[in-house]
Amino acid sequence: MAASTAALPISSAWAQSGDASRGQRVFNTQCRACHTLEKDGTQATGPNLHNVFGRKAGNTPGYESSDAMKASNIVWDDTTMAEYSRDPKGKVPGTKMVFNGVKNAGQLADLVAYLKEATK
Ligand code: HEC
Repeated sequence: MAASTAALPISSAWAQSGDASRGQRVFNTQCRACHTLEKDGTQATGPNLHNVFGRKAGNTPGYESSDAMKASNIVWDDTTMAEYSRDPKGKVPGTKMVFNGVKNAGQLADLVAYLKEATK
């Protein structure tokens, strides 16, 4: 894991401290260019993220994921979502998601809180 981010403790209690309305802003500015969240949303540069929590990574119906993502064996929950959003290439080496990561701990918790609501 990248040393620059080692100080951030990622736990589900921490993720539950996020504010979903603030998280919507984070999503809109940092993720929305490549992802939709609603049911039957478009597969864009990245996969549609509807129902992503509880699903195995690399299994979005109708989207061709990278081999790295398919082989990652991640199941998306608060913790894995925060880790991947913070450092995509650290969490899944070889991922084709070209994104540096959300480094601010507060923004990351807000983002996860929003995603949990908006992907239902
Ligand atoms: C420049 C476009 C781009 C941006 C910006 C982006 N993503 Fe992605 N995302 C992708 C691509 C492409 C993939 C497919 C990765 C793969 O298969 O290796 C992906 C995959 C994912 C996945 C894995 C889904 C699965 O089960 O396979 C999640 C979760 C995700 N992104 C969340 C986010 C979040 C949260 C943000 C904002 C913080 C974000 N992404 C920003 C392009 C992007």
